[in-house]
Amino acid sequence: MKIAVLPGDGIGTEIVAEAVKVLNVLELPLELEEAVVGGAAYEAKGHPLPDSTLQLAKDADAVLFGAVGDWKYDKLERALRPEQAILGLRKHLGLFANLRPALCYEQLTHASSLKPELVAGLDILIIRELTGDIYFGQPRGRRTAVDGHFPGAEEAFDTMRYSRPEIERIAHVAFQAARRRSKKVTSVDKANVLETFQFWKDIVTEVHAQYPDVELEHMYVDNAAMQLVKAPKKFDVVVTGNMFGDILSDEAAMLTGSIGMLPSASLDANNKGLYEPSHGSAPDIAGKGVANPLATILSAAMMLRYTLAQPEAADRIESAVRAVLAAGLRTPDIYSDGTRKVGTREMGDAVVAAITGKT
Ligand code: NAI
Ligand code: MG
Repeated sequence: MKIAVLPGDGIGTEIVAEAVKVLNVLELPLELEEAVVGGAAYEAKGHPLPDSTLQLAKDADAVLFGAVGDWKYDKLERALRPEQAILGLRKHLGLFANLRPALCYEQLTHASSLKPELVAGLDILIIRELTGDIYFGQPRGRRTAVDGHFPGAEEAFDTMRYSRPEIERIAHVAFQAARRRSKKVTSVDKANVLETFQFWKDIVTEVHAQYPDVELEHMYVDNAAMQLVKAPKKFDVVVTGNMFGDILSDEAAMLTGSIGMLPSASLDANNKGLYEPSHGSAPDIAGKGVANPLATILSAAMMLRYTLAQPEAADRIESAVRAVLAAGLRTPDIYSDGTRKVGTREMGDAVVAAITGKT
């Protein structure tokens, strides 16, 4: 099983190093190969996603990605900015399903912005479609308005758009994920206002006929935004379009307290995928050895579960993470009174020790 390891920028290198340590103690036939990406790749090779890095990612079974970006690249032209690397990888690898679990660990309920009883035991999975919607629809641009409220005025426009196959394949991902969980899917739309999302709702309903064992509910996005903070535990799998998913996944992330704990997966049609923490390169704390590596370590667990078909190994990592939290170890982002503050490396070492049984 070949894994492309792309640490990237900022804390990316620090947190990916810990995930690699964890993968290496599992005693699995994993072949890890590292390459530059993002700002680091721009410095070394003049492009945020060099051909050699892209080829490595294409040849691999899965990609373990850190994070890219730094303020110092803000003045570069858009095509050379670090963030283009992740967009390029999504495009060239055909990644269309973004899976973001929001899981609230028992010991961290205090870190949530909600009351502990609302989030204790929270375990939901947001599935965001990545290739369509208003983010990519054409035409888009600026022009002089010929109609509307202000004819003759300068205006800007985008196009919301989804094709049948795009909706069908993401619906299948959601129903299949629900089968491994509590068997409930909430499809989030705005069918009352948008034709695109009436189409979405119709097609998700059609696909549901193939999954009679899974419960399907439809919810308007404004109500979903409310329910996520009112009663988040009512959800299991949430599936939605690119823009609503962008917003709702960040909202769900905050229910759990720290972005340093949240993994993510982006899958293609064959369950190959790219795995990365939900957070960015955190230039404000880069190089200080204080970043929380658990989101990346948990991303490696998702990789074992979804792409490499090693659910037992994934379980071992996830149990080890629970064990170190139960033992009171905390990086600064999740620290509270009465726990033990540790750095990035010490946290990674503790997860390794919990897996190997050596403490
Ligand atoms: P960010 O997620 O990097 O940081 C937001 C805040 O969370 C910061 O205060 C940071 O210190 C903290 N934080 C993030 N990860 C943490 C961790 N593992 N442990 C402890 N604290 C953590 O988002 P921000 O600041 O908006 O963006 C910084 C850079 O990252 C930008 O260049 C942005 O474009 C890039 N970015 C890259 C992403 C990717 O590679 N997929 C995703 C999001 C942002
Ligand atoms: Mg976002």
